[in-house]
Amino acid sequence: MTSPTPTPSPPLATRSVEIDEASGTVVLRGPASCYVLRVDRSAGTVLHVHWGAPLPLDDAVALPVWADHDNSFAGRWDGVEEYPVEGGARFGAPALEVRFADGSSPVEPRVDAVSTPGEGHLVVLLRDRVRPLAWELHYRLPSGGDVLERWTVFRHTGAPGDAPILLTRYASAHWPLPHRTGWRLGAVHGGWAAESRWERTGLAAGETVLGSRRGHTGHQAGPWVSLDAGDAGEEHGEVWMVALATSGSWRITAQRTAAGRVGVLAAEGHEGIEGELGPGLCHTTPVSTALYAAGGFGAASRAFHTYLRQHVLPHPHEVRPVLYNSWEATGFDVSEENQLALATRAAALGAELFVVDDGWFGGRDGDRAGLGDWSPHPHRFPRGLRPLADEVHRLGMAFGLWVEPEMVNVDSELYREHPEWVVHLPDRTATELRHQLVLDFARPEVTDWAYAWLRQLVADNSVDFLKWDFNRSFTEAGAHAGGPAARQVHVTHAHGVHRVLDRLRADFPRLRIESCAGGGGRVDPGILARTDQVWPSDNTDAVDRLAIHHGFSQAYPAQVMSAWVTDSPNPLTRRTVPLRFRFHCAMAGVLGIGGDLTRWTRHELAEAADLVRLYKDIRPVVQHGRLHRLLSPGDGPMTAVQFVDDGADRSVVLVWRPSTRFGPTGTALRLRGLETEARYRDEDTGAEWSGAALLAFGLPLPDLPQGDHASAAVRLRRVGWAGRREQGQ
Ligand code: DGJ
Repeated sequence: MTSPTPTPSPPLATRSVEIDEASGTVVLRGPASCYVLRVDRSAGTVLHVHWGAPLPLDDAVALPVWADHDNSFAGRWDGVEEYPVEGGARFGAPALEVRFADGSSPVEPRVDAVSTPGEGHLVVLLRDRVRPLAWELHYRLPSGGDVLERWTVFRHTGAPGDAPILLTRYASAHWPLPHRTGWRLGAVHGGWAAESRWERTGLAAGETVLGSRRGHTGHQAGPWVSLDAGDAGEEHGEVWMVALATSGSWRITAQRTAAGRVGVLAAEGHEGIEGELGPGLCHTTPVSTALYAAGGFGAASRAFHTYLRQHVLPHPHEVRPVLYNSWEATGFDVSEENQLALATRAAALGAELFVVDDGWFGGRDGDRAGLGDWSPHPHRFPRGLRPLADEVHRLGMAFGLWVEPEMVNVDSELYREHPEWVVHLPDRTATELRHQLVLDFARPEVTDWAYAWLRQLVADNSVDFLKWDFNRSFTEAGAHAGGPAARQVHVTHAHGVHRVLDRLRADFPRLRIESCAGGGGRVDPGILARTDQVWPSDNTDAVDRLAIHHGFSQAYPAQVMSAWVTDSPNPLTRRTVPLRFRFHCAMAGVLGIGGDLTRWTRHELAEAADLVRLYKDIRPVVQHGRLHRLLSPGDGPMTAVQFVDDGADRSVVLVWRPSTRFGPTGTALRLRGLETEARYRDEDTGAEWSGAALLAFGLPLPDLPQGDHASAAVRLRRVGWAGRREQGQ
């Protein structure tokens, strides 16, 4: 008896899209995961097979689809279709729902073509069997990672003169999850000054909807979720994550069917935001990204951070500067003199960027007037901004300005001239929030106006940095053009914002931008593709910030998280916190200073200068390293994070104990991500440990003071390997 010579199986990670024509099975393969779907031409749909640990193609081909049992009350494929439509025996939440001219909705799909237009890119083209509607499901695995991108393109394939088709639901993607029990949904929630509070709860049967109905991403929830089967922890277990790159209204629907299948729909626009598709036209959804990680929530965060760095952030390799911002020091009361006084002190502390916040323009003496009139305030800056910008540059800092281009006060020249530019409907009360209305950035004349004055402002004053703010949610919103698409302004406004940002960046490649929306009201992968950092919250209390940073870090890396050290007691919470703790907290992101430096004592200024120096030393590790959340806020009295650079040469540990409880607490902090065989030296104390000891026993913390508001920053550097010393050490 002879046996055939075994052919070696190809290494699992060689091809990112593998197709088995006979079965219609497609494997999208990342280095540590795979996503398997099956194109079922006879059923006219694309079915989900597997999403998780890597599998060979042979197995993927043989795997069954997890169908519900066939009866007259069940949707056989509910929960396992890659893109469920409204129509046929489907009873779950659809990804696609339309209204044809006759008022009907059902869609009857058939598979038209499967193609791979580029490396790691798969397209499945589906069409309605009768009506002139086609939709393409796009899948793309950006090189090097396990993050999968999906989006959908809809096309009205009718002839000129045909009736338009109304898209009433048009998700970017539906992400079916594998067969598990005990599903948990993780998400951030909050409000103004209380953003990004991370919570995991059991996933209820039915539909759980997160979203924003506000025309912007929102403080209340972020456009991403995680899922796990109730058994994952920070550094172990399977975690799936789904996100959406949108900056307008959105909704993410996690669905658990009665049969136990779970899927996540990610869609731009809240319900009722409809889009009209005319003959010959097409619509492309924003990208939804998703990943599978086998190493817990920490691994999922690190994978998403890496994806953002490699494929989304405009300047991922830059080190973000230490900034000074005037808002908490001078409020609206800015002037050339007081900004100069702050700038001089900020430069002495080591700040590298000076940002004049709200109040520098128009008749802006408070929040009731001036928004829309973007020329220097005649009394506060009678010589214009240029002398201040020049002096800031002379002090060795970059010059930044606050702007809020999407808003107008009724008491402004702009509103008097163009009352029709607001999104508020003419025959409805225009609700003012913070005394302002929203300009309609879906209208080209409005975005052209914004682009023109922004361009002029940046060019005339050598502006290096814009803090782009947005301080109210939409009310009574509708595009003035009216029609079925009127409510679309909840998403098209944000598209207009993206376009203006893109144009400005193209004109001024060295301009850097911070996104802010009354704190963290617009943080999403869509805005991160066109800005350099975001302001996560107007709450600058260092203790509250530990929780905000913790939630923020689940999806976004430290290099985009702006964090200021402000005055104590904190203006919002009235909590008194030592300067050192405030600095250590802000050092976990992009350090900024926002206190009134004219009132800081000589001792505080000297301590602050030392801490800024320390931050500059550790920031390459913090901003570009891998994050390990060692102890989470709420887990016990201490919170700690660790950053490790590429190659594990350097590591930074930041630890905080806001409030002491039950006497002395743990004295060692188990670290992560280090080389077991390496030796590491504490750069401040000179103490040395092996990587093995730091990982297994932990970092001893004898210097963490007793009492409330204790904190420490520990810098570790690799000085050699077991038994030998690194050159130059
Ligand atoms: C809200 C922002 O979050 C603050 O930092 C500040 O810029 C104010 N707006 C200014 O109005």
